[in-house]
Amino acid sequence: MTKIYAVVNQKGGVGKTTTVINLGAYLASKGRRVLIADIDPQANATSGIGVNKYDLQMSMYNLLLEETAAADVTHPLPEFNLDILPSHPSLAGAEVELVNAIGREYRLRKGLETVNGRYDYILIDCPPSLGLLTVNALTAAKDGVLIPVQCEYLALEGLTQLVQTIELVRKYLNPALAIRGLIMTMYDGRTNLSRQVVEEVRSYFPGKVFRTIVPRNIRLGEAPSYGQPISVYAPKSPGAIAYQILTAELLKGDAQAKSGD
Ligand SMILES: Nc1ncnc2c1ncn2[C@@H]1O[C@H](COP(=O)(O)OP(=O)(O)OP(=O)(O)O)[C@@H](O)[C@H]1O
Ligand SMILES: [Mg+2]
Repeated sequence: MTKIYAVVNQKGGVGKTTTVINLGAYLASKGRRVLIADIDPQANATSGIGVNKYDLQMSMYNLLLEETAAADVTHPLPEFNLDILPSHPSLAGAEVELVNAIGREYRLRKGLETVNGRYDYILIDCPPSLGLLTVNALTAAKDGVLIPVQCEYLALEGLTQLVQTIELVRKYLNPALAIRGLIMTMYDGRTNLSRQVVEEVRSYFPGKVFRTIVPRNIRLGEAPSYGQPISVYAPKSPGAIAYQILTAELLKGDAQAKSGD
């Protein structure tokens, strides 16, 4: 069974793309078949994993607007042992172009059905908004959402709105939608603030915050400019170790959920 997670937070720059790329890479290194699906017009997951978005013939745009099958728009990345369903800058117009389309919220879900069973994990990288592209991701995310939260002042701000959106999508579009977990990112162990934010988010979302905390680590910021996940760019860095442990935590939780079914 393919697990489909959307990595979502309408706040910009909180670590969504970094989480998608690195969690994806470590899941792949653990032998899981992984697809990274980029539904953000910024296409940062696409370029961050070494794909030139301007070279693409087919992208998420074709899947959403022309109902091209996912299998026809995915590209293998043999060096990282995973596949990418790339984004393209043209996706910026898709939000408007989709408005009158039939089944506009279900386009990604339908498209991904064509690769059902080919992957163990599909991770969807969302844009920093709660528009139709993110709603498509939430509708497709049959196993839930991963929410990166930056360890900074006002981290909780915006999460109420995100939770409301998740509830609306669950009610009308995807009854299976759940919060799989919140991931604390860019933690700075030298500051009280980071610690306070983690405590605050844990008390607001009891039992929902991953134990693994991703530290602020310059290597994580550098890796995308080399088109590499951290597992390749700087495998011994603190950021790499954190994403590796986070991957193990996710896999363990998923295995327990399965045995508890
Ligand atoms: N743990 C970290 N330590 C240091 N830098 C990080 C870390 N996580 C992410 N970054 C850097 O911070 C910036 C924002 O991260 P990222 O692009 O993953 O966020 P995002 O939520 O996807 O942003 P957007 O909302 O624009 O899509 C990037 O330059 C990234 O390389
Ligand atoms: Mg991003």
